[in-house]
Amino acid sequence: MAHSIGLSIRNGTKIYPGTVALNAVDFDLRMGAVNVLVGENGAGKSTMMKVISGVEQLTTGQILIDGEPVVLKTTEAARRYGIGIVFQELNLFPNLTVAENIFIAREKTRGRIDIDKTEQRAQTRALMERLEQDIDPDDMVGDLRVGQQQIVEIAKSLAHDAKILILDEPTSALSSAEVEILFRVISDLKANGVGIVYISHRLEELIKIGDYVTVLRDGVITGARSMNGVDVDWIVHNMIGGNGKDFAKEIEHPFGDEVFRAEHVSLGSQAGGLLVDDVSLSLNSGEILGVYGLMGAGRSEFLECVMGRHPHAKGQFFVDGVPLKRSGVASRIEHGLALIPEDRKHDGLVEILSIRENITLSSLKQFTRGIFMSLSKERDAVADFVKRMTIKVASSEHAVSSLSGGNQQKVVISKALMTRPKVLLMDEPSRGIDIGAKAEVFRVMRQLAYEGLAIIFVTSDLDEVMSLSDRILVMSNGRVTGEFSRETATNRALVAASGVGHTTAPRHKEPA
Ligand SMILES: Nc1ncnc2c1ncn2[C@@H]1O[C@H](COP(=O)(O)OP(=O)(O)OP(=O)(O)O)[C@@H](O)[C@H]1O
Ligand SMILES: [Mg+2]
Repeated sequence: MAHSIGLSIRNGTKIYPGTVALNAVDFDLRMGAVNVLVGENGAGKSTMMKVISGVEQLTTGQILIDGEPVVLKTTEAARRYGIGIVFQELNLFPNLTVAENIFIAREKTRGRIDIDKTEQRAQTRALMERLEQDIDPDDMVGDLRVGQQQIVEIAKSLAHDAKILILDEPTSALSSAEVEILFRVISDLKANGVGIVYISHRLEELIKIGDYVTVLRDGVITGARSMNGVDVDWIVHNMIGGNGKDFAKEIEHPFGDEVFRAEHVSLGSQAGGLLVDDVSLSLNSGEILGVYGLMGAGRSEFLECVMGRHPHAKGQFFVDGVPLKRSGVASRIEHGLALIPEDRKHDGLVEILSIRENITLSSLKQFTRGIFMSLSKERDAVADFVKRMTIKVASSEHAVSSLSGGNQQKVVISKALMTRPKVLLMDEPSRGIDIGAKAEVFRVMRQLAYEGLAIIFVTSDLDEVMSLSDRILVMSNGRVTGEFSRETATNRALVAASGVGHTTAPRHKEPA
């Protein structure tokens, strides 16, 4: 079936200071179909969607809707044409409820005066049912885990009944069960004629869901066609102009002494259950410990306990055999711990500061002598990381908010490494980064382990945990449900230990 073109960009160029983000692109968005966008971090995907949704304007070129040129000066203007977008980064208010977030700025009014809370709740409940979620309209968004917040973002866009719906990396924080649900919703929308743009770095996912694919590279469209017959090799070739890099190659090295130990760590939830339930583990220097499990298994919460974020958590931590007495993140950093959090925008970066300032934010001591900062020393150190992590940046003096999503993540990783930790905690280290950068991050992780760093990383990706870990722990419902050496781990054993099959939709709040 031929799909009609609902919107096009003709000869579209977008220039930011120092960067040509889009270079004379021609793009056609087809209705009743999923239009996939793919490309390396910084290739221009989000920018192309921002000009369509009125967030940014083209420097030169045209946007046509149903063949007619239009000017989309604001998101409101775009919305009037039926264009909705779910942004790459979460844009929710943590201190408002789910229903309030969904209806913010366009509250349902009764008699135009008071906000009709009952109606909003009812609609929110219906949306959550459609998304097969056990989320209450009155839940505070700040209490939801990142994946659930992403679902709320999606619900918010569904509430608008958009004709064109843009999803910028909607699944980066979703579990595989949640991805399946989202795919069902997308099929529904498609059947109703909605034109969908779908951005992701998960290539298999793109091939599965897409009807059309457009590849961007350095602001230029390098390939656009129907998804029929497209495979991962074709995408990678157009993305990076060559064949994909391998996953991190094994560097065999002996481990050192025990550097970190956690004993009987527990954390209660507000509902009365346990988010982390009596977790103990130890780690040697040079060792990479992978923690596998489903979203909501308590993995992130455990890392937060290690980092001293939950003063009420029970249990003890030791670094080099010395017990950590004081809680609090600053004290934990001083003792050689560093965390790369899952929600990097909120926890990791200060948007108004420059890239350089963000990278060195937690390690300013290294660059001070007496009361003076050595700017040149700081600049050199930053330049080194920018190169090592392949951060795509015009100047490290630019605001960190000017970086593409994936490149912002590399800044967060650099910031943690700059503190020269003994133990590095990484929550979903490959979330949102392209396959080239992913191989790069893994290579850096291996190299750091070789240099003696101990790493605990949390992931929901089987291939990742299998290829990177020296040892694997599986968590489910707050507990450690399996431990495997590199030799004994199999996909099957890990999945079985993670409890798939027992719970279809992992819940945030454990029953009391
Ligand atoms: N507000 C801005 N000011 C300056 N430069 C920007 C701004 N926003 C984006 N850029 C630059 O434009 C280029 C394209 O960025 P964009 O966010 O579109 O990439 P992307 O393809 O979405 O990448 P990712 O996969 O990492 O999300 C990047 O080089 C980025 O640094
Ligand atoms: Mg982006």
